[in-house]
Amino acid sequence: MSNRMAVIMAAGKGTRMKSSLYKVLHPICGLPMVEYVKRATQESGVKDIVAVVGHGAEAVQEALGNSVHYALQEEQLGTGHAVQQAAEQLEGRSGHTLVICGDTPLITGDTLNKLFEVHESSGSKATVLTAIAEDSTGYGRIVRNAQGHVERIVEETDATDEERLIKEINTGTFVFDNEALFKSLKNITNGNAQGEYYLTDVLGLLEEAGETVSAYAMDNFEDAIGINDRIALAEATRLMRARIARRHMMNGVTFVNPAATQIEADVTIGQDTVIETGVSLKGNTTIGKNCFIGVNSEIYASEIADNVSITQSTIEESFIDENTGVGPYAHVRPASTIGKNVNIGNFVEIKNSILGDNTKSAHLTYIGDATIGRNVNIGSGTIFVNYDGVNKHRAIVGDDSFIGCNSNILSPVTVGDRSFIAAGTTLTDDVPDEALAISRTDQINIAKYWQKLQKK
Ligand code: UD1
Ligand code: CA
Repeated sequence: MSNRMAVIMAAGKGTRMKSSLYKVLHPICGLPMVEYVKRATQESGVKDIVAVVGHGAEAVQEALGNSVHYALQEEQLGTGHAVQQAAEQLEGRSGHTLVICGDTPLITGDTLNKLFEVHESSGSKATVLTAIAEDSTGYGRIVRNAQGHVERIVEETDATDEERLIKEINTGTFVFDNEALFKSLKNITNGNAQGEYYLTDVLGLLEEAGETVSAYAMDNFEDAIGINDRIALAEATRLMRARIARRHMMNGVTFVNPAATQIEADVTIGQDTVIETGVSLKGNTTIGKNCFIGVNSEIYASEIADNVSITQSTIEESFIDENTGVGPYAHVRPASTIGKNVNIGNFVEIKNSILGDNTKSAHLTYIGDATIGRNVNIGSGTIFVNYDGVNKHRAIVGDDSFIGCNSNILSPVTVGDRSFIAAGTTLTDDVPDEALAISRTDQINIAKYWQKLQKK
């Protein structure tokens, strides 16, 4: 393997997206599209990557972090001009340089590695990655001579009617001999329909100078699509979603309806887990083995251990331990830790709370800012009153306690172990271990009340 370098072009505004968000930052399955390009580039064995940034430079740098170097393209004068901005970092170095667009998120590390190999073994000064498109509208066309050699690339706006019929397109991805690249970039001009300095013109210049230019045709156009507008964005999202689901299925995960399931790029799922229709798993969520994730559940940035069942529920930034059941219609909000063998039932909302092993909250409850021990039974309609209008307060409930239905637990308060809270209690004071707390008015029955009403 030669010295492999790369330039990722990511300075464009993306006018055709009609967005205040810079094009390469538009997310696809949870990651900005340029992040996929960076990862594929790294997978192909490139060490030094220069990202050319311009529009939204700071935001793009924040997204890509410090695993790449940056070059600033202050004015977007074309893809050739963009690559020129990386001269300070790369010019004069020997080796081969991948140039890739920040808006082609489906190109894989595998394809890039093959492109490098084809280029390195050919002795060419440039190798372009091409694909055959059913509809080549919008792409640069590959013009080959009678012998089948690549002669040049013509942009759609500069192409003749005949050239527009060419189905072989420029994916916008190339490997160049590094020294030849920066030498040729000095000679490109902007005498074309868009008045831009085209990177694609480097190929024609090399060819004219008698150098060999090659092409490597990938067999799958879908992996090469460039995202210029929201229609292509939706198409890329569909393809990426399918690719992600396929990876999990290959690892032993069942998808009842993969096309109607959204799994973001960095999610991991254990073997024999079943994912039903409409499920959405986002952020760096981890799902264990043998889990059941039912219809329309949404899980964000959470860790779910093995054998957990989640039905029609939402979980955010939380941890759910083994053999626990959640839902239907439960909402576990951020910073919650739910133990093993816990039951969280219908219409239960939990926020910033800890529930110990074997604790049950089966129906209609709000648990906010509470630390609850093991084997606690939380009756239906219990509300942890954690907010006094100014501050949030915490409640602590000990192990093996019983909270009767429709109780209000006014925090801050501490309930001991093995204690009982009678149904309907509004708890304002601490409860010692093994005590019963009851705070409700005694019942009175008024006899013959019906008759009294009739007389009115
Ligand atoms: C480009 C290619 C075209 C190819 C297509 C593949 C050229 C002239 N055209 O066209 O042959 O078929 O990609 O998707 O190269 N950029 C900059 N600075 C600039 C201009 C662009 O950084 O001054 C970046 C953009 O952010 C983008 C990439 O380069 O990530 C491609 O630019 P774009 O305007 O999308 O080019 P296309 O018209 O798609
Ligand atoms: Ca493009």
